[in-house]
Amino acid sequence: MAAMDATSGYDRMKELKEFDESKMGVKGLSDSGITSIPRFFVHPPETLSDFKNSSSTCTNIPIIDLSGIINSKDNDHRLKIVEQVKEAAKTWGFFQVINHGVPISVIDETIHAIKAFHDQPHEVKAKYYKRENELGGVMYTSNNDLYRAKSAAWHDSLQAWMGPEPLKVADLPEICRNEVVAWDKSATEVAETVMELLCEGLGLEAGKFKELTFLDARVLVGHCYPYCPQPDLTVGITSHTDPGVITVLLQNHVPGLQVKHGDEWVNVKPVPGGLIINAGDFLQIISNGEYKSIQHRVLANSSKEARISIVIFFNLAKWKGDGYHGPLPELLSSEKPAIYRNFSRQEFVENFYSKGIDTKSLIEKIKLQN
Ligand code: OGA
Ligand code: NI
Repeated sequence: MAAMDATSGYDRMKELKEFDESKMGVKGLSDSGITSIPRFFVHPPETLSDFKNSSSTCTNIPIIDLSGIINSKDNDHRLKIVEQVKEAAKTWGFFQVINHGVPISVIDETIHAIKAFHDQPHEVKAKYYKRENELGGVMYTSNNDLYRAKSAAWHDSLQAWMGPEPLKVADLPEICRNEVVAWDKSATEVAETVMELLCEGLGLEAGKFKELTFLDARVLVGHCYPYCPQPDLTVGITSHTDPGVITVLLQNHVPGLQVKHGDEWVNVKPVPGGLIINAGDFLQIISNGEYKSIQHRVLANSSKEARISIVIFFNLAKWKGDGYHGPLPELLSSEKPAIYRNFSRQEFVENFYSKGIDTKSLIEKIKLQN
């Protein structure tokens, strides 16, 4: 594609750069009172028409009540919950957990602190605005994939790598520092419980994923989806799958998240105190297709109030000696041969970071034609 649109004189790259260098983010654009969005946010008609057909017959993703399994030895009850988690991860790839043990005050404080960060004047946030820390440390930016994606999306994000190398806590903006650290701890506890249930659902030892270091490489992202004056022309986040093992997502009460289920897009209704869990590509591959990594997206926010979400992506920290991963050998047999080939860390990282998040997932690339 030519950098300059010859017929209209539109220089997309120049506009992207100006927006990026202004460090104002979409929150800054929204707060400035604009009534029409810059052209590089406008998505092609195919994407937008799919957004219009987003009514669905299903009302929500499965909700799983974890009360009774935290600190309890009631085995029959645990087996029931394992079944629910397994079924949801197989058929939806997404579920919402309630009564997970994290106090509502911690949840509220986390949302409040991330909102407070984004609500600061953009001159204050500008000192954190950068792109070079995508693979470690702290970074605040608008659209991680701004220069890689075909069209930009209506959100800004504060991102912090919480592990495996310990984060330099002082690098976090003070306004949300303590809350980010506390949230990482709480969400990791929930992730550990969920990973145990997912392991049991596969017939593995409960601690297998922890042992494989799936809790250790964590990226926390605090998204802000501000009011968008033309929500029919753009998206909050483009349809994608998450690359890692699992994602834990906390959202405020402003809706927008949608999950693909069959041919339909299902609205994920915020449940007070609920946490959304979804399987990523890595989990689909190592479970040999048992658990599904499902497409999801966020609508551009038409509400005057910002939508806030805080996600933590859990990834493998230690790659095997030879650097390759694939379906777990314990899950394979002559009846259940591997449906994916092994892949290297480089392939995994390159697939994600070389293009926009709408890139074809690694899953498609490494599928074996059995
Ligand atoms: C993501 C994502 C959804 C949301 O960051 O990968 O899917 O609700 N976010 O912010
Ligand atoms: Ni996602």
